Amino acid sequence: MTDIDSLKEEIEGRIAAAADLDALEEVRVQAFGRKGRITEMLKGLGALDPEARKATGQALNQVRDQLQTALEARREVLKAAALDARLAAERIDVTLPVRPEPQGRIHPISQVIDELTAIFADMGFQVAEGPQIETDYYNFTALNIPPEHPARQMHDTFYVRGKAEDGANLVLRTHTSPVQIRTMEAGKPPYRIIAPGRTYRSDSDMTHTPMFHQVEGLVIDRDITMAHLKGCLIEFAKAFFEVDDLPVRFRPSYFPFTEPSAEMDIGCQRGGGELKIGNYGDWLEILGCGMVHPKVLAMAGIDPNEYQGFAFGMGIERIAMLKYGVPDLRTFFEGDPRWLKHYGFAAADLPTLAGGLTR
Ligand code: DAH
Repeated sequence: MTDIDSLKEEIEGRIAAAADLDALEEVRVQAFGRKGRITEMLKGLGALDPEARKATGQALNQVRDQLQTALEARREVLKAAALDARLAAERIDVTLPVRPEPQGRIHPISQVIDELTAIFADMGFQVAEGPQIETDYYNFTALNIPPEHPARQMHDTFYVRGKAEDGANLVLRTHTSPVQIRTMEAGKPPYRIIAPGRTYRSDSDMTHTPMFHQVEGLVIDRDITMAHLKGCLIEFAKAFFEVDDLPVRFRPSYFPFTEPSAEMDIGCQRGGGELKIGNYGDWLEILGCGMVHPKVLAMAGIDPNEYQGFAFGMGIERIAMLKYGVPDLRTFFEGDPRWLKHYGFAAADLPTLAGGLTR
């Protein structure tokens, strides 16, 4: 009897001392497991004579029940404590402000596309898209660049051999201008769209990468003139470079799909390995533009006697480099996180005209 009592006391002490659920489980196994101390004692009953077996059996059963009740009670206490500890450890203060400096950065190309879109959307432009793998017709012929036209040589085209429906070659679009044609074919005028996207040319050095980005613009309506072209692009340049007195000039140029054609320059200053945009006396070309050629309108099914308009195209890396002082074009696509940390933008900094394009 005293054996049973002292064992009971011992186990009760260990139950009370168990600091967590694992320790408590160990106590339970030592008492009630297959080789547990109480289990062994219950097994030993068979060897006793009937009188002793009855008395010892009753005592043992009672102790077993009491210990199991004690185990259960302790388990509830430890469970509640474990939950409290976990809740305290995992607590999130939802009233804390968003972290000011998240790790991820928006790539300057994405940022500039968002900026362009904000500026032109404010002028009523919609964003249009076209495929990056184009047919020869949309990339060249429909833009008044027939086969054997010398302008084709200037484009360093990547071909996708024999993949057109008729077995002809497809091309990786060399400019975003085919989106002009797709836009005109897809709906009725008026049109006022920009088409930012990837373009491809087989060329690679400090200022060329095989994949780069352009943004195309197209405005077609009745009575659109070169004055609209100039007004629109001057407004764009001032908003984009965030320089109010930005000098701008248009030089005559040649593109097969516009007549007349021009290139637009903005004021700048070069020297000391630095380039500044603004009223400093020097000039820098930023885009090509012109009045859409009547042949291009006609090929897209639009009557040039009724409708006319202007188009423009510019390199997104180029204007991103100018605005944000990136010296080497190739670094845009090296995927170096240190570069992105330096030149990238915070995720929540969406450019808007009202909020300021860059902050
Ligand atoms: N597609 C031309 C290029 O890649 C750029 C361009 C020039 C686009 C004049 C136009 C334009 O829409 O009117 O060099």
